[in-house]
Amino acid sequence: MNIKNSEKIDSEHNVSYKKNVAFFSTRPYEQSVYVSLIDALNEDSPHSINATFFDHPLNPSTAASCNGFTDIVVFVNDDVSASTVDALRHCGVKHIALRCAGFNNVDIDAAKNADITVSRVPAYSPETVAEHTLALILTLNRKTHKAYNRVREGNFNLQGLMGFTLHGKTVGVIGTGKIGKAVIRILLGFGCNVLCFDPYEDKAITDLGAHYVSLDTLLEESIIITLHCPLNEQSHHIINADSIDKMPDGVMLINTSRGGLVDDSAIIKALKSKKIGYLGLDVYERESELFFTDHSHDIIQDDVFQRLTTFPNVVITGHQGFFTQEALEEIAAITLRNIMDGKNIT
Ligand code: NAI
Repeated sequence: MNIKNSEKIDSEHNVSYKKNVAFFSTRPYEQSVYVSLIDALNEDSPHSINATFFDHPLNPSTAASCNGFTDIVVFVNDDVSASTVDALRHCGVKHIALRCAGFNNVDIDAAKNADITVSRVPAYSPETVAEHTLALILTLNRKTHKAYNRVREGNFNLQGLMGFTLHGKTVGVIGTGKIGKAVIRILLGFGCNVLCFDPYEDKAITDLGAHYVSLDTLLEESIIITLHCPLNEQSHHIINADSIDKMPDGVMLINTSRGGLVDDSAIIKALKSKKIGYLGLDVYERESELFFTDHSHDIIQDDVFQRLTTFPNVVITGHQGFFTQEALEEIAAITLRNIMDGKNIT
């Protein structure tokens, strides 16, 4: 990839153009994608974007660093609650661009009242997250995470590695939007029987060959349940002690959506009782304190997270469902377009 301004990013994280945009919670792998797109944009329309990349998150205590910026770009774990929005208003920020689909971390009403527009990236290669969902299902089922270590140690014993054939099994998909639909297409390709729940049923889903049922029926009949709905008041802890109770013994639960959809203490109890037989997570309710940062030399204080990592039948990835080259480029292009157009979801 052609990165004309990489040396400027390396030296001071600052590239000089006109529209003042601050990017929060950025990492080098993202910055390079944005810089090459901004270079191309500024060649077509000179002096359009002046980008500053911060690696720290946006929250009420860092919001003062927005002084002088017209637009700010945030990610999944930035805290754009009412008090952050208030600070942004005082700094003169006019637009908040989310470089992600979910916007549960932004107080949309507060932004509206502060006359700050908000944009997001509602759709970018839903297959990216869908494929990661399948990676978790297949890893847990065929235990490739364990097989990898065994073979490296010269242990070719298959004891404990037995999986089940996915073909013909019933899988429940909660939320049949863009990602849910991509997951359904893949599962149908595997020959699974797919049950779905969504308050808004989509004929395209039944045309594919999946079946809408009530949430209770989905919970009772699916041996794999995967979550693809947004986090909101109705969906918060949609997976709790009561809903787990309805699931078959040994169920596989997958969450690549948002951590707040599941009640972790109920999950841990169900793992201990073997009600949940497999758990795949790409998201975690308190992930903002952990994810996207190297904590390998720290003493992690989150006892719930640490307990989850001790189970042999749990695979956790650190919110990387979106993380492919293609998706990053698409997200960056849409985010910059949203900034240039002043798009608003409020
Ligand atoms: P979408 O908006 O296309 O679809 C969401 C669907 O969920 C809609 O059909 C909606 O009607 C349904 N829904 C809403 N409330 C529900 C409820 N209580 N129960 C069941 N269904 C409900 O969203 P998309 O693009 O499919 O994304 C889904 C979620 O995936 C996002 O909200 C985001 O949290 C998560 N995500 C995770 C990523 C990762 O890297 N792990 C990356 C991108 C998105």
